[in-house]
Amino acid sequence: MKPLAARTAALKQSDIRAITALTREVGGINLGQGICDMPTPAPVKEAACRAIAGDRSTYTGYAGIRRLREAILHKAQTYNRLPATSDAEVLVSAGSTGAFVTAIHALLDPGDEVLLFEPFYGYHRNLLTLIGACPRVVPMHAPDWRIDFDAVRAAITPRTRAVLVCTPANPCGKVWTRDELAALLAILQEHDLYALTDEIYEYMLYDGREHVSLASLPGAYERTITISGFSKTYNMTGWRLGYAVGPAPLLEKMGLINDLLYICAPTPLQYGVTAAFEMDAAYFAEMQAAYATKRRMLCETLERIGFGVSWPQGAYYVLADVRPLRGRVPGFEDARTACETLIRRAHVAAVPGPSFFQHPEDGEPYLRFCFAKEQPVLEQACRQLSEAFGGRA
Ligand SMILES: Cc1ncc(COP(=O)(O)O)c(C=O)c1O
Repeated sequence: MKPLAARTAALKQSDIRAITALTREVGGINLGQGICDMPTPAPVKEAACRAIAGDRSTYTGYAGIRRLREAILHKAQTYNRLPATSDAEVLVSAGSTGAFVTAIHALLDPGDEVLLFEPFYGYHRNLLTLIGACPRVVPMHAPDWRIDFDAVRAAITPRTRAVLVCTPANPCGKVWTRDELAALLAILQEHDLYALTDEIYEYMLYDGREHVSLASLPGAYERTITISGFSKTYNMTGWRLGYAVGPAPLLEKMGLINDLLYICAPTPLQYGVTAAFEMDAAYFAEMQAAYATKRRMLCETLERIGFGVSWPQGAYYVLADVRPLRGRVPGFEDARTACETLIRRAHVAAVPGPSFFQHPEDGEPYLRFCFAKEQPVLEQACRQLSEAFGGRA
């Protein structure tokens, strides 16, 4: 038989899924995969049920239904402060991942380079690679994941076409400040680069931090595709709905690519998620408060055990440093072994750090824990961790 396409050669099941399988085997609690197990808001579910009952079952236009695009436009103008003016600047896709895939197809030719800040979300690196683009990694510096803008400049080559910013970031929880974004924008303008932003965790912020969209800065909108979605904010990862906002000519091309790849996002669910925009401010405030409590619970548990913990500024992950445990507690020699030790002894799963680094050895010091769990489940996980490794839950 002839071999498969060359692009499949490097594809393998991600560590995250392998860990999920192992956790199931022992009946453990999975703080690995970034799945929120809280319920989807009732008004959203009810609106989707009405759409299904009402036979909203045919394809929509490739950019999504107008009512939803208008709602996204309004949110982009008010929450993100983007200078978008028309729903032609909005595309609804199959998750924010779908929006990202259409964006990279629209912007990048094979061999084009994209700057990616490390630690990164694996899908970003892997999707860029899949389409033949070349991710070039710029490290962020622990504990607060500082950006070295000289390193950003040094990573730019004549093939560089775009920079990818994930804020708040998975896996390290960094929230980019306005000053950092302004410094990046100056570089984008100087080198005529595009920006892609992933803002899927834009409502999960701690310690009074503010979410700033790069595209809200003067002069940024015309070179930026802002991507977000519903999976995280409304606990609906399986609905596969997300969106992009950006300049109309670019978004029009992304829409045509969306048409080829997906035709459209699922129709009744588009109607359902439109109801999400009617949620009041209390919804977001309660969500933030609940995540802040969960962040504290998990960070304190990990600190008591002896992990090095830089508390996330946003999103719902903790990237914990296992180095302080090495030599003191057996089974923490490398990230993979540490993960297996946690599953075996505490029945709690995390993700090994190498998944988030270009050179896997750079990720060996880290494990990523997700705290988007129902409160009693997270409490139980913290108790199990404490009982297995010391400290009090
Ligand atoms: C940074 C980031 N972007 C995108 C996604 C996926 O989002 P969606 O479900 O909208 O495709 C995730 C999920 O973990 C993520 O962490």
